[in-house]
Amino acid sequence: MNKRPNIAIVGATGVVGTTFLKVLEERNFPFGTITMLASARSAGKTVQLKGTAYPVMTLDEHSFDSGIDIALFSAGGSTSEKFAPIAASHGVIVIDNSSAWRMDPKVPLVVPEVNADDIKWNNGIIANPNCSTIQAVVALKPLHDRYKIKRIVYSTYQAVSGSGIKGINDLKNGTSIAYPHPILGNCIPQIDVFLENGYTKEEMKMILETRKILGDQSIAITATTVRVPVFDSHSESINLEFEKPFEVEDVKSLLANSPGIVLRDDPANHIYPLALEAAGTDSVYVGRIRRDESVPNGLNLWVVADNIRKGAATNAVQIAEELIK
Ligand code: A2P
Repeated sequence: MNKRPNIAIVGATGVVGTTFLKVLEERNFPFGTITMLASARSAGKTVQLKGTAYPVMTLDEHSFDSGIDIALFSAGGSTSEKFAPIAASHGVIVIDNSSAWRMDPKVPLVVPEVNADDIKWNNGIIANPNCSTIQAVVALKPLHDRYKIKRIVYSTYQAVSGSGIKGINDLKNGTSIAYPHPILGNCIPQIDVFLENGYTKEEMKMILETRKILGDQSIAITATTVRVPVFDSHSESINLEFEKPFEVEDVKSLLANSPGIVLRDDPANHIYPLALEAAGTDSVYVGRIRRDESVPNGLNLWVVADNIRKGAATNAVQIAEELIK
């Protein structure tokens, strides 16, 4: 891979797309050319990167015909389904933020702190996991390696920015356009559509993606995902059962010394992970670490991260950084 790759941003005008640009700039990602792509609705618009205004081009079958090395996609599942294979057939490596390719056995699903090695077996498409899964597995990986996780119970408290501008506006305005109910003053135990088994698609994403990223199909997992009236950052209660015994103090120091994690665990001083602290940052915050006394080898954690940054744009840019190492 070219050390200064030519980049395309697909969905450059969206919530995640504009954050791709911010994160590329902040991390000083080296690139040659950069091409901004969106729908025909954005023709004539420009987007800013490092003080330069770039015109937004309309995505079509010829957008990847020549010279692009890496494409960061965040323009919805159907756009990825159609255009990621076209890009890959032109030798582009696609890093796709949609759910379209995540569970395809030929597509690696990558969180660099957890399974960067999986990037090696890509066939032109690398999937970026679901936002709530990314922050969870960053916290779980070191624990799984040391104590072997038997079972996970996820309960999430997810921000409206995960639904794009419509979700943000529903919280600002008290409307009910992005969701089946008003989100202002409410908690909605439905994220995405319901499936036949009574779980939502979001819940099943957390279950299936966690197993794929950790490379362990034996972990028992259940999840309840809830939209809450918070603008940015998802919060998660994670209940774990391990095969091996542990000391709570060892868990704390293991997490404090693991990549991507900031420990916030001093309850006596009201210090624990908070959505407002995580917002705008790239770290996964972990705290409220305590034994679950109701089962052998049980542990509770509270895990918070910015869903648009570590949960989407930053993780994708980190994958791109791995590609040019
Ligand atoms: P556009 O602004 O032209 O509609 P968000 O999730 O924040 O709503 O952003 C979605 C992003 O995906 C936007 O950049 C949007 O472009 C882009 N997008 C949506 N549908 C298409 C499509 N069919 N082709 C190309 N880009 C698309």
